[in-house]
Amino acid sequence: MAVSSEPFWIRMPNMLVGTGTVDNVGALVKKFGGRKILIVTDPGVVQAGLVEKVKQPLEKEGIEFGIFDGCEPDVPVHVIKKCAQFTKEGNYDFMIGVGGGSTIDTTKVASVVATADDVDQEDLGQYIAKGAPRRGLPRIHIPTTAGSGADVSLGSPVTDVDGAKKVIFGEHFLPEVSIIDPLMTLNLPARITADTGIDALIHAFEGYTSIKANVVSDMLSETVIKLVANNLRLAYGKGSNNLEARCNMAIAASLSIHCVLTASAILPHSMGHSLQSEVKCTHAVSCSIVLPHVMEFNLLVDQPKYARIAEMMGERVAGLPLRDAAQKAIEAVRKLTMDLGMPQRLRDIGMKKEQIPRVVDVLFAPVNMWRINSNPRDCSREDATKIFEAAW
Ligand SMILES: [Fe+2]
Repeated sequence: MAVSSEPFWIRMPNMLVGTGTVDNVGALVKKFGGRKILIVTDPGVVQAGLVEKVKQPLEKEGIEFGIFDGCEPDVPVHVIKKCAQFTKEGNYDFMIGVGGGSTIDTTKVASVVATADDVDQEDLGQYIAKGAPRRGLPRIHIPTTAGSGADVSLGSPVTDVDGAKKVIFGEHFLPEVSIIDPLMTLNLPARITADTGIDALIHAFEGYTSIKANVVSDMLSETVIKLVANNLRLAYGKGSNNLEARCNMAIAASLSIHCVLTASAILPHSMGHSLQSEVKCTHAVSCSIVLPHVMEFNLLVDQPKYARIAEMMGERVAGLPLRDAAQKAIEAVRKLTMDLGMPQRLRDIGMKKEQIPRVVDVLFAPVNMWRINSNPRDCSREDATKIFEAAW
């Protein structure tokens, strides 16, 4: 797909990037006017000792703080309410989200819910339908995984009361600052390193090949694809010893969300979210299993960009006919996900073939159509069924 000439937004927040930058959190809270701070996190992050790295700079600055460590994977709406209630009852006026995508997304939505007169009565169904209704409490985000990009995104995927994954958008979800410190991701387990890194690659692929791709999303996507291709295997294989690979993956993760924010997400994320309503698996696994099959489906409309992806991912494409060079992008993605031990088939994650029609129903719900409509190739229900069957 060529580059779109449609108008687009560039919505990047302040990002402080570098080794040891988390030490600045106390000074930054003061700069942005926080007085009573709630650190929002989850038990895994506490156990990994990462909350200590945030507490120390706050204590040094004499800043009062509390901790909510009840965040759960996939952002259940009842956990958002619980966090918001905790915030309101504690009279906190500033939040620091410390964790992976789910924890930071919980922080983002809870920061808005906490400003409601009555948290119990706040209708999150309306947030899903119409977006977060107002600016929430100010926030600093400190990601501890490299991949979700939740720290710098305007969207928050949540799990609704019906178990379906839906996205809440918020004009004000960007933080006062996002602190990207590779030391916060250093001991990330290999499995999560792989998952989150692949998620970053998929964000870049989607922004790059969306019909809304533009010069800025292309620049970001190419940077992220190269960073992932050159660093993810290293971060996965011996991440705790390879600060450079960790640092590059942390940068790739945060930039990757802007590939889709500046352009658009397309089929893999749409299909991944739909799969998660039927099968228990991580966000990255659901998206990565369908990715090569979506790439096969979309290949015919965007061969030059596929060939460029192949080249950036280290495939030899010189001298090949364009169609063959483009095909190499799919091979490169398969090699990477196999090297990282990602499941390759939907049946590998316990999905039954008879579940496919239900997943297709979810995929074509009105709330998902914006991503399908941004896909570079028209995709009917029959096409989607074939893609899921191929991935099964
Ligand atoms: Fe994602």
